[in-house]
Amino acid sequence: MKKLIIANWKVHPKNTAKARALADATERIARDHRAIEVVVAPPFPFLADAGAVLKKAVLGSQDAWWADGAYTGGVSPRQLKSLGVAYAIIGHSERRIYAGETDILIEKKVRATLDAGLTVVLCVGETERQDGEMPARVGQQLTTALTGLTKQSLKRLVIAYEPVWAISTTADARGAATPDVAFRARIYIEKTITSLFDTRGARDVRIIYGGSVTPANVASFLSEGNMDGALVGSQSLDPKKFEEVVSHAAR
Ligand code: PGA
Repeated sequence: MKKLIIANWKVHPKNTAKARALADATERIARDHRAIEVVVAPPFPFLADAGAVLKKAVLGSQDAWWADGAYTGGVSPRQLKSLGVAYAIIGHSERRIYAGETDILIEKKVRATLDAGLTVVLCVGETERQDGEMPARVGQQLTTALTGLTKQSLKRLVIAYEPVWAISTTADARGAATPDVAFRARIYIEKTITSLFDTRGARDVRIIYGGSVTPANVASFLSEGNMDGALVGSQSLDPKKFEEVVSHAAR
């Protein structure tokens, strides 16, 4: 299976013209590196413009609400799908921290997004870099979000392991995790999904790493960390850097 590299633009860039230029540059990168599946997740207001230029790269969103109806401010998975969105990031730590999203809300979003036929990128990860934190937090996040899903839907599930302490913009960021930390998280995530479903179900789920991914460290997360891809924040905003990330991932 192709390695998956997801560009998470967060609340950038500042206007449509810049978003279009960034989408254009990212599309060229995807075309030049066909061995990699490139997904671009712009903010909602730029989805249509980015979608118009993305052909080889796949359109993603940074969130999805859990229903259509009277939910002011929400954007539903079905609406996203009608714009050509194929992937939705759900439960990013910045939504958990700054928008107060709970495991229960995230579970609803995961289910609705899968039901609409999109692929979910469920973000999990511990806040503190301490022994025992990863299994405690990630176990709870996975169990709440995944219980009750059909085994069939696991084929459209990606788990992004993102230790919050490793995200480049976290206040007291500690830099990227090591491939060894990512590898241990992968084993733990596989074990948890196996116990919720079965070995076959766990094999269908792609597991990727996020948190200060750079051209210098991406290859080691994919090889030593045994990751199926990466979720890339700040380095996805600079086409030169993102091109290097994708080309190192393709090696
Ligand atoms: P970063 O962000 O690559 O800037 O650390 C990753 C993320 O939060 O998804």
